[in-house]
Amino acid sequence: MFNNFLELAEARYSVRQYSDKPIEQEKLDRILRAGQVAPTAMNAQPQRILVLKSNEAVAKIRTLTRFHFNAPMYLLICANTAESYKAVDGNDSAEVDTAIVTTHMMMQAFDEGIGTCWVRGFDANMVSAAFGLPEHIEPVALLPIGYPAEDAKPYPGAHEKRKPITETVKYL
Ligand SMILES: Cc1cc2nc3c(=O)[nH]c(=O)nc-3n(C[C@H](O)[C@H](O)[C@H](O)COP(=O)(O)O)c2cc1C
Repeated sequence: MFNNFLELAEARYSVRQYSDKPIEQEKLDRILRAGQVAPTAMNAQPQRILVLKSNEAVAKIRTLTRFHFNAPMYLLICANTAESYKAVDGNDSAEVDTAIVTTHMMMQAFDEGIGTCWVRGFDANMVSAAFGLPEHIEPVALLPIGYPAEDAKPYPGAHEKRKPITETVKYL
């Protein structure tokens, strides 16, 4: 769909209006595959992904965040802290690994013409309780996922609001 990665990255935006059209399984498989090949510290692959697709699961997650955008389905990306790499200074890579996996899936989805919005506007303890997650499986990100509605558009000025590169990058 895009000619190169930068074109894709520049075009992607957080989709907050969805159509009801279901995602084809082969597209969802490629999105999940993109997450599977993401780099993780020591290749520990601590991501655990719940595909919230049933009416029951969809209804449940919608009660747990106001950022559900009535998407047709959701990916709840969790980190298994029992498997993640811990550096010598104690730093746990679980959240970083899971964020990279989420980003891979987000970009693959947009390349397939499918929208997502990274959502962290939820209470992880409440989400864990609702889905019966054990303590070592921590919800990190929620991706509402689906075809953008016809009137879907980025928040006004979102791209123009990027800080100048001179503010975020320093050459030493
Ligand atoms: C860690 C993280 C948490 C976010 N949480 C939310 C959220 O709870 N609700 C929401 O509407 N957008 C959320 N966003 C989306 C950001 O607001 C959005 O990516 C940013 O404004 C840039 O806009 P763009 O994605 O359209 O380029 C989140 C993004 C990230 C990376």
